Amino acid sequence: MNHVTPVIAQADDPSLAREFLAATDGRLTCDPAAFDFSDLAHKGYLIIPSFLPQHEATSLYDYARQLGEPDWNSAGIGREQLHTLNTRVRSDQIRWLHADHPIERAYLDTMDALRIHLNRTLFMGLFDYECHLARYQAGTFYKKHLDAFKGRSNRVLTTVYYLNPEWEARDGGALVMYKENGDVLETVLPQQNTMVIFLSDMFVHEVKVAHKERFSMTGWFRHNTTNAHRVDPPA
Ligand code: OGA
Ligand code: MN
Repeated sequence: MNHVTPVIAQADDPSLAREFLAATDGRLTCDPAAFDFSDLAHKGYLIIPSFLPQHEATSLYDYARQLGEPDWNSAGIGREQLHTLNTRVRSDQIRWLHADHPIERAYLDTMDALRIHLNRTLFMGLFDYECHLARYQAGTFYKKHLDAFKGRSNRVLTTVYYLNPEWEARDGGALVMYKENGDVLETVLPQQNTMVIFLSDMFVHEVKVAHKERFSMTGWFRHNTTNAHRVDPPA
């Protein structure tokens, strides 16, 4: 029999880091000032078709693709520590990014530069950012939901970055965003290097059933809602 043995590494495998370093210099090249954010200000969302240089997008994809099973967790609904598994709503798997991991830090650093730029230009008062990689295996989905409820969450702005080369409509897995009246606003294919940014409490959205493996990096810029009685995010 002639079958290919998949190369599976752990997230901390030095060979992954070496590969990433060789391809990218250990950092991602993103100048937020190069993008026009006026759609975000006027419509509440923005789609950037090419967010990073191509070889960097490929490196992030290679990283996600080579992660082994222990690196992934079933996705819950809600925050990392508070999860309740509800696979009727979402059946993807996730991996929260951490700054002590060099490849993951490269993405978090890029998003921090974006945060500072948005605060400077749109006065958004974004305080921090949390992000996970998500893996949708064939047959998985995330039903219609909002990422934040008005006044009940500190998630302000959602970012979704896609890693999948050569994605076509027949592969399923589209991100569908809805208008307030329930009509479709946008259907976005999870095409490699596309970045979607939207106000977290404004747009109901869903991930249609993917027919092949689909990777995204989904993150949220947050406000700081610390007060005298509550530390946020919780320690
Ligand atoms: C989410 C989400 C969209 C996507 O994780 O909250 O809506 O396209 N992800 O992966
Ligand atoms: Mn969402």
